[in-house]
Amino acid sequence: MPEPQPIVRVSIDLDQRSYPILIGHGLLGDSRTYAGLPSAESALIVTNTTVAPLYGERLRAALAPHYRKIHELVLPDGEEHKNWQTLNLVFDALLGHRCDRKTVLFALGGGVVGDMTGFAAASYMRGVPFVQVPTTLLAQVDSSVGGKTAINHPLGKNMIGAFYQPQLVVCDAETFATLPPREFSAGLAEVIKYGPIADMELLDWIDANLPALMAREPAALAHAVRRSCEIKAEVVGQDERESGLRAILNFGHTFGHAIENGMGYGKWLHGEAVGCGMVMAAQLSMRLELVDAAFVQRLTALIERAGLPVVAPRLPDSVAGESNADRYLALMRVDKKAQAGAIQFVVIDRPGSAAVRSAPDDMVRQVVDACCD
Ligand code: NAD
Ligand code: GLY
Repeated sequence: MPEPQPIVRVSIDLDQRSYPILIGHGLLGDSRTYAGLPSAESALIVTNTTVAPLYGERLRAALAPHYRKIHELVLPDGEEHKNWQTLNLVFDALLGHRCDRKTVLFALGGGVVGDMTGFAAASYMRGVPFVQVPTTLLAQVDSSVGGKTAINHPLGKNMIGAFYQPQLVVCDAETFATLPPREFSAGLAEVIKYGPIADMELLDWIDANLPALMAREPAALAHAVRRSCEIKAEVVGQDERESGLRAILNFGHTFGHAIENGMGYGKWLHGEAVGCGMVMAAQLSMRLELVDAAFVQRLTALIERAGLPVVAPRLPDSVAGESNADRYLALMRVDKKAQAGAIQFVVIDRPGSAAVRSAPDDMVRQVVDACCD
């Protein structure tokens, strides 16, 4: 068999918690990808009903030389299942199979499977090793990297979780072949995000190469995944637990999480909500006189060309008589960045640079009214 050929190996540098991200074709099904992981008798593959039939057997075969026992847990698919009940199925499987504290968990799927498996790995016996095998674009460029793990709560997105780093991230470009177009566009939102917050050259490159990306050309995708992982690695390496800088990775997420929760988990995809949330956060940046209208228009046009919604939804009220803008405000007050009830927004303070700022409620209401249908 030819040597596995990672296009690139990006390192997350966190002292003893450092690990590589391998990016290439055919890595998932190659047993050599997993050499060098901590030795263990057993492994648990956590996946879902969509991904299991596509890639479950391939991963199981690749892990066979490394583990005497390989178990598989197939979770229900969907953001609406990213909760305690589903998380508990992972603990049921771990205990039911008598997994010990060396058992390695493999998260095979998108960000939902990755976030839940990571959280289970952080908590089972106070921490067991885990590997991210992301199979969506979004998970390869963002969620599998950096150690944020979580489940949703009915009152707030990703509110229960832990920082817990994987041992390895395996980004196999072959998994893009089966990804539905809507999911692919959702992943592009997180790729685009890295431009305005950190790298205007990347934004220029995406602008010029969006047709190649949308056509899933391997070279374009390889560049997008590599550059996204490099930027994320740089940020996480400086601020693993989000005491400051790491918050910039949440550009678009404060508005986006309000959309996801307010519409009901699963109605808007995470990447769709982030794409639209970036339009709203860019509008807010303009009202704070940090960027000009041309910048906002450029970003909005790119997000729309990527197949993402740029008009925000009106949210169903929870309290009779509550305005749409007030519903957004209420949801955004339950954000992890909020301090004493004051919402903190990630804004663009100049193209290629982001900062965290508060904004007057009236200004936020104007943004919501301007962006909603
Ligand atoms: P997802 O996990 O729901 O996957 C999207 C859909 O694609 C699912 O139906 C899944 O079964 C399916 N799928 C996965 N791989 C496939 C493949 N190769 N072919 C066909 N179908 C496939 O969603 P996502 O967009 O990957 O991740 C979103 C989640 O990630 C959200 O819960 C979000 O909060 C989280 N997230 C976490 C971080 C982090 O730092 N931890 C960062 C960004 C997002
Ligand atoms: N996606 C935000 C972060 O990882 O910090």
